[in-house]
Amino acid sequence: MANTVLIGLQWGDEGKGKIIDVLTEQAEVVVRFQGGDNAGHTVEIGAEKFALHLIPSGILRPGTMNLIGNGLVVNPLGLHTEITELEARGIRIRDRLFLSSRAHLVFPYHQVLDGLSEARLGDRKIGTTKRGIGPAYADKINRTGIRAGELRDPVRLEASFRAKAASFQEIFQAAGITFDVDAEWARIKPVAAALAPMVADTTLMLHRLIREDKSILFEGAQGTWLDVDFGTYPYVTSSNTTSGGACTGTGIPPNRIRHVVGVAKAYTTRVGSGPFTCELTEAVGERLRAVGREFGTTTGRPRRCGWFDAVATRYAVMINGVDSIAFTKLDVLDGFDKVLICTAYEVDGVRRTEMPDDPHELERAKPVYEEMPGWDSTASARGWDELPAAAQAYLRRLSELIGAPAGIISVGPARDQTFLVKGS
Ligand code: GDP
Ligand code: IMO
Ligand code: MG
Repeated sequence: MANTVLIGLQWGDEGKGKIIDVLTEQAEVVVRFQGGDNAGHTVEIGAEKFALHLIPSGILRPGTMNLIGNGLVVNPLGLHTEITELEARGIRIRDRLFLSSRAHLVFPYHQVLDGLSEARLGDRKIGTTKRGIGPAYADKINRTGIRAGELRDPVRLEASFRAKAASFQEIFQAAGITFDVDAEWARIKPVAAALAPMVADTTLMLHRLIREDKSILFEGAQGTWLDVDFGTYPYVTSSNTTSGGACTGTGIPPNRIRHVVGVAKAYTTRVGSGPFTCELTEAVGERLRAVGREFGTTTGRPRRCGWFDAVATRYAVMINGVDSIAFTKLDVLDGFDKVLICTAYEVDGVRRTEMPDDPHELERAKPVYEEMPGWDSTASARGWDELPAAAQAYLRRLSELIGAPAGIISVGPARDQTFLVKGS
């Protein structure tokens, strides 16, 4: 498998973790390129269920190498917990996981700042995961962040941490928050020492692996509509979740990327605030949430649910340069009499077939639906020919509307509930 970037085409939680896990049967290296532990990627292997936040989903296949790229913001305490929990479940981590020295670190003060910022925004709050992602990326862009390379030098790290924490004390005091720097450092110090051996120039490693012709998968987090540039700003995350982020977030040159897989659910979900044209708040939405088990992997929040949005997804296919789609959670639509697809938006009485670039217009958009017949069951299908004709017709129509062919179909959370579409 040539160097492949896998990204989410909607608002996250498309099933990227599951598809990465399936694809890593053939990949030798998996690289995360953006985000932080706001991500929650679920992989089910037999009776076991894993929720990965910072560690690439490739870690669950023995023999793969896993890199955390420079584009991430990494909470050392969270990463250490994740490693410890995986090790306790028999997953070998040492010598298989490397952390870019250029990745930025997320510290507890970033989480406090995240909470304060949300509280200040009141009813305009973003609905963040409160993992400190925005404040950590803000420090990076302000050129005042602390990078993972400092984990290798505890004396320098402590000085940086204390200076940085001190710079926020005035804000914390004004908000009546006690931030105990000594206590926080006492938690961080041993963790920094444990992580230090994993810190590396992952860009150099990546280029060696490319020269050795290894098959490399780039694992996106979040989804296209949460991208800080292209998403439903300001209701987005603070990184580039689109395929271009793989270049800046790892150091792979654009001309070394051979394939882009876009992951899309057969319907739509969103967690957190912001416009969501296809949102269904009544019985159908409740049914999608219940059957699809649509509760956040990271925060446990109920996800907002709706029909498939072909307007938003076509735009996402375009900006990511998607070569093939992995359609997931088709089984969640099993048993509906009819399924709806949003093919256009109506904004102020005008029908639009392209995603509005003005967030205020987007907030006023109403969905225009096309109806298709439903089907009984897809969950036991293990090939395209085993899908009910109505489900095939539905997927064909989605592909036609969004402008990319189906390459992979997923009809359940298990590894074997996945198949490739022939000819892709
Ligand atoms: P990610 O963030 O994109 O990796 O997605 P999440 O793991 O947050 O959410 C996807 C959820 O759907 C997880 O609980 C998966 O186990 C589950 N899942 C993935 N593919 C399928 C599928 O085809 N059918 C069903 N029913 N569940 C799926
Ligand atoms: P995965 O990788 C779904 C959402 C939050 C919020 C917004 C900003 O599992 O698909 P942040 O904490 O990043 O500042 O929050 O982005 N969000 C996600 N939604 N899946 C995710 O990750 C998400 N990561 C962040 O809910 O609306
Ligand atoms: Mg998720």
